[in-house]
Amino acid sequence: SGTSKSNEQGQLEIGGCNAIVLAAQYGTPLYVYDEKSIREKIHSYIHAFKKHDVKFDIAYASKALCNIAICQVIKEEGLSLDVVSAGELYTALKAGIPASRIHFHGNNKSPEELEMALQAKVGSYIVDNFYELDLLNTLAEKYHQTVSILFRVSPGVKAHTHQYMQTGQQDSKFGFDIISGQALEAVELLNSRSNLRFLGFHCHLGSQIFEKEGYLIALQRFFDLIEESKQQFDIETRVINLGGGFGIRYTEEDHPLGTEEFIDSIVEAVKIECNERKLDSLPEIWIEPGRSIVGEAGTTLYTIGSEKEIPDIKKYVAVDGGMTDNLRPALYQGKYNAFIANRVEDDPVEVVSIAGRCCESGDMLIHDIKLPKVKAGEILAVTSTGAYGYSMANNYNRIPRPAMVFVKDGKSKLVLKRETLDQLIQNDLELC
Ligand code: LLP
Repeated sequence: SGTSKSNEQGQLEIGGCNAIVLAAQYGTPLYVYDEKSIREKIHSYIHAFKKHDVKFDIAYASKALCNIAICQVIKEEGLSLDVVSAGELYTALKAGIPASRIHFHGNNKSPEELEMALQAKVGSYIVDNFYELDLLNTLAEKYHQTVSILFRVSPGVKAHTHQYMQTGQQDSKFGFDIISGQALEAVELLNSRSNLRFLGFHCHLGSQIFEKEGYLIALQRFFDLIEESKQQFDIETRVINLGGGFGIRYTEEDHPLGTEEFIDSIVEAVKIECNERKLDSLPEIWIEPGRSIVGEAGTTLYTIGSEKEIPDIKKYVAVDGGMTDNLRPALYQGKYNAFIANRVEDDPVEVVSIAGRCCESGDMLIHDIKLPKVKAGEILAVTSTGAYGYSMANNYNRIPRPAMVFVKDGKSKLVLKRETLDQLIQNDLELC
């Protein structure tokens, strides 16, 4: 993935750094991010939009990876940022992301979180439901602000992806339902909610999507809504936000659509809809990619430890991490590829299954992967772990979270310290 390749000794290199050296220097498990690959991905989105004569905004969905370092990259590249909690908002502000570039998401933002966002003056709120619509209007009034909002709607589109990652179907906890008329009801309320400035509609179909069709259907539903909002309530739509979800390559089985192809087809479809419906101006097109910005740029390094061979059945090889640093295999049957980092070029000779270290049979990182014969102490590199790995990491079995480095041009920078045992008990209080 990214710019990783092997050197003359057959050792894995990421961003010009030797993975074996990184593992020795920082310990394992270790999250390694190829910074150049992140920036290239960002540039490919910007480039894809700039080809067209449209106004656009790209908000990085920080849930995929949120810490100071990635927020600094996002800031430098001038993207917007999507946050869904006080924690993500706090991190973004601390990293110096201008509040005006922050979009606040979530299906149950608390009053405290909304007040924090109002104090910071975040750029826009993606309003998810009727409760939030009134809560935000009331709080905005208290802060003497008129805030920019989008309505999240569920367009009734079932994306082709894992059930837990589908969000655009009618039966979803997110957003105003279009089919039953909730979305239009929300639009009607706008005329009496004077502290809300309506920008437009938002939807997010799901995640790890390989096809453009779902987006195109969602667009048609958007444009129906745009016309109805104008005709029935004289409400103008300036922005349509299609969320994120653009898929990446975890293994050779994955064939995601290229960034440019996705963006081209979305922009073309918007132009066609506007034309056919004789709308005077094109709305701005906003997107919120998360996984596709950071996913392929991340590699996790593990040290190989114990093994167990069940004759004629299976060989388990255990590593020093697992579902605590990457929950995706256990939660979504997420599939990954891996290399022995010190012998990338060696021929694969045996099929093994990579086990995590947690007391949980479901803690398997990879089922049945063909690798060279592995030995304890060697470094296993699992690729494309950059999205939703650290962000969903946990302390099950009281395992500390790994460290993280960003690598670029042969240099590595520690951006997240390894959690210590003392940190694990720092909030514990004695009973007696
Ligand atoms: N916008 C909204 C409103 C979202 O809910 C999400 C992801 C995104 C954008 C970014 O989607 P992306 O481009 O990353 O696919 N934990 C799961 C993925 C959950 C995604 C949740 N929402 C996983 O590990 O696959």
